[in-house]
Amino acid sequence: MERTVVTIDGLAGSGKSSLAKGLAIKLGFELLNSGLLYRALALLCAEVSEVDAVRKIKENREFLLSPSGDLYSEDTAKKASVLAAMPKVRELLLPIQRASFPGRSIVAEGRDMGSVVFPDAKVKVFVEVPVSERALRRGVSEVVLEERDKRDKEREAAPAIIPDGAIIFDNTGGSLEYKIEELYQLVRGRL
Ligand code: DC
Repeated sequence: MERTVVTIDGLAGSGKSSLAKGLAIKLGFELLNSGLLYRALALLCAEVSEVDAVRKIKENREFLLSPSGDLYSEDTAKKASVLAAMPKVRELLLPIQRASFPGRSIVAEGRDMGSVVFPDAKVKVFVEVPVSERALRRGVSEVVLEERDKRDKEREAAPAIIPDGAIIFDNTGGSLEYKIEELYQLVRGRL
């Protein structure tokens, strides 16, 4: 039987990771957190260079899919965002993401899941939250977040866009549990 893929995309601070995790548990699907691949690669690269990144990807496939270490430090996040803008890095991570959890249904979360990595996903979701609220959640100023949004949306390699046919999910108002349940009902209706 074909596996089912549900994609969850959205900008920084939209709460997509928490939603995706809760949704995967409710659906009984595996969770692919694609941001972790970029963060794991950042941990492996002492210096951020394309040549080094390409070598590290080829030599550390297993680590990239189940990384450990200081994945959420500011330094790692910064390096990850530079690596994520390199077309060659995205090209090499693409087959790794597609081949993850073979035969298992997945919820895939990131910024290009529905548009690039899983264009044939059964259900696509784009999570929306106003920039003022996302800035509060991330603890950064609106100006900083707007700059990051601009970089994410305008970069040449896999820009963060609303995939064709995606459900636009408003992730404001209500507890996390409530929003997960709301999303679960919406997605289940389309499976
Ligand atoms: O979602 P996150 O903060 O863990 O992502 C880490 C970095 O990787 C961030 O700069 C965005 C980037 N990223 C990406 O470009 N494409 C994805 N599918 C996931 C993350």
